[in-house]
Amino acid sequence: MSWPSTGCCVVGRASSLTDHGSIAVFDSGVGGLTVWREIVCLAPHEDTLYLADQAHVPYGSRSLAEVREFSKSIARFLLDHGAKIIVVACNTASAAALYALRSSFPQVPFVGMEPAVKPAVERTSSGVVAVIATKATFQGELFASLLERYAHDVEVLTQVCPGLVEAVEAGGLDTPETEALLRSCLTPLLDAGVDQLVLGCTHYPFLRPTIEGIVGANVSVIDPAPAVARQTRSVLARREEEGCRDSLGQHLFLTSADGTCFGKMIDRLLPSSGGMREVREVHWRGGDLEA
Ligand code: DGL
Repeated sequence: MSWPSTGCCVVGRASSLTDHGSIAVFDSGVGGLTVWREIVCLAPHEDTLYLADQAHVPYGSRSLAEVREFSKSIARFLLDHGAKIIVVACNTASAAALYALRSSFPQVPFVGMEPAVKPAVERTSSGVVAVIATKATFQGELFASLLERYAHDVEVLTQVCPGLVEAVEAGGLDTPETEALLRSCLTPLLDAGVDQLVLGCTHYPFLRPTIEGIVGANVSVIDPAPAVARQTRSVLARREEEGCRDSLGQHLFLTSADGTCFGKMIDRLLPSSGGMREVREVHWRGGDLEA
């Protein structure tokens, strides 16, 4: 793989991608960067390959079957370009496709996301917890099985927040419009006595300061990204010998939409992550992704 010798973020077409093992991470857009940054923090020497399917964002209002097809094509593409592990850094894609991905690619380690219902149920004192996520996430079998396993004697409220993913994608992290959207989602949960709020969409941690300002100090906000990063590191550790590389990893960011806009968003959302970064575009053609 050739990396630019100057600048941090450059934009180009993905003509030559990594051909050795990278941690691959994907999402419908920038949300998975909240997981990516935790992974890089724990494993700074690993190369990473991040794919944002911004041609199809948001996933949350699409059918599970459609998101499953996107996810399978993305996984195939990432494997063709050097992924040694794939982190589905998207609750919606995990709900739609995690089981299908594991059965379509049985040799590949996949790490998925699920709303952190278990820790919320363990920590609640009020007996009322809430999950905010996309409509599709709540429709998946994964969420139903979480409720079945953990939601005993505790009320688990679910709340879809239309427009929030689009707001984050547009860079509206702290605008009055985004705050108003958040207030309308969160106020009914506060009125119901929630004391644990699970961020069930990887876009939402970018809104955490505003969310915490609205819910106040008596409500704990739970983001599963650090746990997913720990899981990624332990899956990798089980599969490979500890390396002795001491240089920082190289990071390739791919988008199925506009690379220049994506590069600017990365600079804004991840101002200080280490290692060399490059941004490139990929394109959907007839149901497949092409570099
Ligand atoms: N960040 C995603 C999730 O965790 C996808 C949101 C969307 O595209 O609707 O669900």
